[in-house]
Amino acid sequence: MTIYKIAVIPGDGIGPEVLQEGIKVLNRMAELDHSLQFEYTYFPWGCEYYAKHGVMMDEDGIEQLKNFDAIYLGAVGYPGVPDHISLWDLLLKIRKSFDQYINIRPIQLLKGAYCPLKDVKREEVNMLFIRENSEGEYAGAGDWLYKGQENEVVLQTGVFSRKGTERVIRYAFETARREGKSLTSISKGNALNYSMVFWDQIFAEVSKEYPDVKTVSYLVDAAAMLMITDPKRFEVVVTSNLFVDILTDLGAALAGGIGLAAGANINPERTFPSMFEPIHGSAPDIAGKGLANPLAAIWSASQLLDFLGYEQYGKLVLSAIEELLVEGKVLTPDMKGTATTSEVGDRIAELLQSLAIVKG
Ligand code: NAD
Ligand code: IPM
Ligand code: MN
Repeated sequence: MTIYKIAVIPGDGIGPEVLQEGIKVLNRMAELDHSLQFEYTYFPWGCEYYAKHGVMMDEDGIEQLKNFDAIYLGAVGYPGVPDHISLWDLLLKIRKSFDQYINIRPIQLLKGAYCPLKDVKREEVNMLFIRENSEGEYAGAGDWLYKGQENEVVLQTGVFSRKGTERVIRYAFETARREGKSLTSISKGNALNYSMVFWDQIFAEVSKEYPDVKTVSYLVDAAAMLMITDPKRFEVVVTSNLFVDILTDLGAALAGGIGLAAGANINPERTFPSMFEPIHGSAPDIAGKGLANPLAAIWSASQLLDFLGYEQYGKLVLSAIEELLVEGKVLTPDMKGTATTSEVGDRIAELLQSLAIVKG
């Protein structure tokens, strides 16, 4: 029997609602395989915690999380706490402190999922975004000078180190090679005359080590257009922190909606725990009503299973999601259904069971 210790940070808004369903799915998986067990420790950190204690997480929070096998996070942010405080003091703090420098975001149009594009075949929307997750535009470097005065100036500096840029690009090449796919780099060297010229240079340098991997480079504005007009061009994609943030919300809209898109924050060396989360936010507009789609959280649970070495179970969870979408009966309102968050979780758990029996 292997027991995995999971740190659960439900967070704010719909975070707790969707995570509960992801945990339902993990527990069903553990019922189906008795040699696998999860032990959850809940951390009440988030905006409510901030209102009570004046901090988003305990002062030694990072220390408390250090020895878990993985972190499972809902969403962070709620009106009343400035977003730059809530996110920098919890979500971004964890990504950075644990050197989760790779963020993996699949944009894959599953069977049954709605795609707003006409004349596109389902298999043509299948991209794997690899996000630089530790620096770049999110380095937090800058200043705010002469506050409130006429000559006020703010600086937000992008930081692209050789180490940081090389390691994410190399990781993307390794992924593309393993999967036998092309690798697309997205940058903006025509305007960002230091950071993105550097990015392009490092991409060209590293690509010499992978002559077998087909490469493509686009400027980010053209890439945004091409994702819509010709999505099949994109297979494995690597780009900077901010660009992936933006392009994967766009990608989510192409592949079933924001309620379905998942992301894994990975520390590849496994020196620190990795963190799994839906890519959507806390959706305060629908929180507490049972309206939230839990499929993104459930997909991220499948990434968690992959990461722990149970890829066959990760695939099983994805198959259950696909089956649910094809049935089209138990869906939340964002997918034009009438089911509640927990009804979707229940149905996925049932489907998992029947799929597991079929597969033996
Ligand atoms: P959001 O993703 O929370 O919501 C955007 C829209 O999508 C809303 O209309 C919302 O109702 C809908 N939506 C999102 N997830 C959904 C789901 N699972 N099911 C159905 N509908 C869903 O983005 P936002 O409104 O820009 O941000 C809200 C808050 O969340 C802000 O505080 C923001 O900083 C924070 N945020 C946090 C994360 C995170 O924790 N990873 C990510 C993005 C935004
Ligand atoms: C995401 C989110 C975060 C990001 C925010 C909340 C800081 O939008 O994970 O996509 O920009 O990384
Ligand atoms: Mn985002």
